[in-house]
Amino acid sequence: MNTILAVIAAYLIGSLSFAVVVSKLFGLADPRTYGSKNPGATNVLRSGNKAAAVLTLLGDAVKGWLAVWLASTYAVQFGLDDGSVALVAVAVFLGHLWPVFFKFVGGKGVATAAGVLIGINIWLGVATLATWMIVAFAFRYSSLAALIAAIFAPLYYGFLFGPDVKLLAVFVMSGLLIYRHSQNIANLMNGKESRLGSKKANVK
Ligand code: G3P
Repeated sequence: MNTILAVIAAYLIGSLSFAVVVSKLFGLADPRTYGSKNPGATNVLRSGNKAAAVLTLLGDAVKGWLAVWLASTYAVQFGLDDGSVALVAVAVFLGHLWPVFFKFVGGKGVATAAGVLIGINIWLGVATLATWMIVAFAFRYSSLAALIAAIFAPLYYGFLFGPDVKLLAVFVMSGLLIYRHSQNIANLMNGKESRLGSKKANVK
């Protein structure tokens, strides 16, 4: 029962789309209407408002971290085992991808996955974020950086902890994240993907 409640709470936390909320607070256009139409930090950056993009990134990451941190820290009190924590990790991520508060139109999960990974283990998060940064600085594609980081995250987990139920959660997140980047993969292959720092989107 506690696991079900924790999973529902995590899904609801994940459903808070910071791209939409922060844009509204800043008086910016809805990120679902311009650029890639993705409610995520990269697309909010295309509005030209860096502070809004950073806040989106932090909000989406913190919600992922918070759900996993709460479930792990209070596992004994809540009667949660490792399997429950793994389910909470996937649930907060699913909330971001298909948010109940935003007609199930969510983001691609990069910042939330980063928060979840930090919540699972700081070094897992640091290694994955470092991978994102290296690829992003080298190629200037946010999506490519996310895709490579998503491939490496389960490898880092396996290296650090070996196979267990949380590795399964990391696999599921990586798989869904890659799936949500289908359009970006097509754009990268066609040479149409926009680079970080390229011109602002046509924001109405
Ligand atoms: O954070 C999502 C990123 O990997 C791609 O975003 O807006 O370029 O599709 P976007």
